Amino acid sequence: MAVGVFDSGLGGLTVLDAAAKRLPDVPFVYYGDNAHAPYGVRDADDIYDLTTKGVERLWAAGCDLVILACNTASAAALKRMQEKWIPSHKRVLGVFVPLIEALTERQWGDNSPPREVAVKHVALFATPATVASRAFQRELAFRAIGVDVEAQPCAGVVDAIEQGDEILAEALVRSHVEALLRRMPKPDAAVLGCTHYPLMEHVFQDALGVDVRVFSQASLVADSLADYLARHPAILGKGSESMFLTTGDPKSVSKHAAQFLGRKIDFQAA
Ligand code: DGL
Repeated sequence: MAVGVFDSGLGGLTVLDAAAKRLPDVPFVYYGDNAHAPYGVRDADDIYDLTTKGVERLWAAGCDLVILACNTASAAALKRMQEKWIPSHKRVLGVFVPLIEALTERQWGDNSPPREVAVKHVALFATPATVASRAFQRELAFRAIGVDVEAQPCAGVVDAIEQGDEILAEALVRSHVEALLRRMPKPDAAVLGCTHYPLMEHVFQDALGVDVRVFSQASLVADSLADYLARHPAILGKGSESMFLTTGDPKSVSKHAAQFLGRKIDFQAA
């Protein structure tokens, strides 16, 4: 009855931690494609090939339901996967929709026409591939009108986190926030549209100031997963053991995971 969690690297651990806390009886199998991170600078075909490979590995581990805890894969590959690749007895869910539902004050599955919402000026921080896809703006336009989105492609941040270089990651976050604030001086809300960024959330909040509400995905996705499982209990696959798989070097990935998450995680080779 395990659920699979996929990311290009360490970022999806932020989602996994929140989901495991919300659903303590569900085993989770994590797959970090650390050997190929960052995805944010790759093209859509490349991201599709890497993501489908990772999802197949999670299916093989007994997870019929896989969460793409990666905005870049959700933006660049998920639609294509859902259209013609995923068999009918498996599910792959992305991380965009729960975030946008929270931002637009909607309950799950509220498909009513787009309407005015409280936030008017939204700062989006994401990888270059996610920003280029405009998937966030597309999903938002289905639900809200009159929201101005300014997007900042945050080149280098995922790489710095994957390398365990916190000082560089912090400097890059501050310079990306400054660049965005030059174009949108007073956002009401900021969206961390990459699951690596909650690992630097305190830096985003500090650089943005206390008046900006920061939305990050971990708890929103965990709540939405709990809701999905309550409605579709049969989707839990036959896997019964939690594990952490990586395509990278398990020793160094485990070390960087402990550094950013503050707890010991033992990765094994995927
Ligand atoms: N955590 C991934 C995301 O949410 C990072 C993508 C990357 O590897 O660049 O977009």
